[in-house]
Amino acid sequence: MNSGKGQTMWGGRFAATPSAIMNEINASLDVDRRMAQEDLAGSRAHADMLAEMGILSVADNEAIQGGLDAISAEMRAGMFPFRPELEDIHMNVEARLKELIGEPAGRLHTARSRNDQVVTDFRLWTRGALEETSHLVTALQGALVRRAGDNVATFMPGFTHLQTAQPVTLGHHLLAYAEMLERDRTRLLDCAVRLNESPLGAAALAGTGFPIDRDMTAEALGFARPMANSLDAVGSRDFALEALSTLSIAATHLSRLAEEIVLWTSPQFAFAVLPDEWSTGSSIMPQKRNPDAAELIRAKASLITGLFSALQGAVKALPLAYAKDLQDDKRLTFEAFDTYNLCARAMAGMVDTIRFKPEAMLAAAGKGYSTATDLADWLVRELGLPFRDAHHVTGRIVALAEEKGVELAAVSLGDMQKVHSAITEDVFNVLTVEASASSRTSYGGTSPVRVAEQVAQWKQRLRLE
Ligand code: ARG
Repeated sequence: MNSGKGQTMWGGRFAATPSAIMNEINASLDVDRRMAQEDLAGSRAHADMLAEMGILSVADNEAIQGGLDAISAEMRAGMFPFRPELEDIHMNVEARLKELIGEPAGRLHTARSRNDQVVTDFRLWTRGALEETSHLVTALQGALVRRAGDNVATFMPGFTHLQTAQPVTLGHHLLAYAEMLERDRTRLLDCAVRLNESPLGAAALAGTGFPIDRDMTAEALGFARPMANSLDAVGSRDFALEALSTLSIAATHLSRLAEEIVLWTSPQFAFAVLPDEWSTGSSIMPQKRNPDAAELIRAKASLITGLFSALQGAVKALPLAYAKDLQDDKRLTFEAFDTYNLCARAMAGMVDTIRFKPEAMLAAAGKGYSTATDLADWLVRELGLPFRDAHHVTGRIVALAEEKGVELAAVSLGDMQKVHSAITEDVFNVLTVEASASSRTSYGGTSPVRVAEQVAQWKQRLRLE
C-alpha cells in the first residue's frame, strides 16, 4: 500500500488521512469479514478470467492464486491479520495479498471495483444462506410431521376468534404449520433462483473498457448468467429485500406457533407442558415454568420485519447507482438470517419435546357447544331442514343447554323435541367430540383418516422413516 498518504488504498489524491471517527463510521470489516470465503472465490474467478483474456500474465495469475490460497489457509487457521483500519474485507484481502506476493497483487483489481466486488460477494453469501435456512425449515417440518403422526386421533378444540368452534385433531393442527412452512421454504428457494445472476464485471457502475468475459466469471461462481445492466448490478439490493421479506413472513409463522405454545402451556389451557430443557423458572415464583423461547420467537419475528424495513428505508430513495448507504445491507441481512435460524432451531427443539395432554385437550374440545354445527348438519341430513332453519333450531337448543348449565350431549331428548319434535335418539351419535372430528372427511379436513393420509404424504416428501 504505497498509494499516497496514510494507510488507505485510495489515498493518492488525499493529503491527510481520515479521522478516527471517520474510520469508525466507515469501517465494515466487523460485519463483512463473514464474506471472506466469497470474496476469495470472487477474486479467484476474476483473476483467472483476466489471465484467460490476456489482461493479466499467466505468471501474475499464478502468484495471485497462490496468495489467495495462502490467505484462505490463514483464515481457516484463525491467523489472518484482520485490520479494521483497512475498512472492509475486500481491502483487507488485497492488502494482505500485497504483503504476501508483492507487485502482482496490485493487478488483481484491474477491470473491477469494490462496487461490483461487494455485491458479488453478498449475492454469493445470500445464496448460501437461503439454502442453509431452507434446510432448517425442512428440519422443523420434520418435527411437526412426526408429532402430527403421533396425534392423528388426538382431539382438541379448534378455534375461530379464539372461541371454541369445532373439534379438530392435533395432527391436523400441526400439519397446518408444515404447510405454511413449505411455502416459506419454497419462497426462500425462489429468491435464490432470482438472485443468481452475476454482477461481477459491472465495475464501478458503467462497465469497463477491458476485454473481460463476464460469462466466464459468472459460470465459475455458479451464477446462471451475468447481469445485463451494470448500473442495476451495482446499485440494486432487491435480492436482499426479497430474502428479508421472505424471512419476515417465515418468522411470522414461527411467531404464530410460538403464541400457541404460550397459550397451550398456560395453566388456564393446560394442553401441553414444555420439558425442563425448554422452560425457564422464575426467580421469585417457584411454581412458574415459563415458555421463554416461544416468547422470544414471538418478539424476534418483529425484529426481522424491522430489519427488512430498515433495508427498504436505506434503498428506497437512493439514486442509481452505488451509495455507501448500501454498506449496511449486510449487517441487516446477516442479522435477519441469524435470528430466523436461531428461532427455527429453537422451535424445532420445542416441537420435538413438548408433552401434549390429550385428556385435557379432549375435555376442552367438548366444552363450548363445539358440536353445535354437527347438530345442525344432522337436522339438515336426517330431517331435511334447510341449513338456515337447522341453524336456528340448534341455536335454541344451545340456549336451552346454557340455561341448564350442561353441554349439548347432556340435553335430554325430550327437551330437544320441545324445540323440534322430529328429533330422535340418533342425534346423540353426532354430538361427541370424536364423532364430530371424525365426520369431517372432506379433502383437507380434520378427520383422523384424512390426517393420517396427509402424514403419510408428508413423510414420503420429507423422506422420514
Ligand atoms: N465496504 C463497502 C460496502 O460494503 C464496499 C464498497 C465500497 N465502495 C465504494 N465506492 N466506496 O458497500
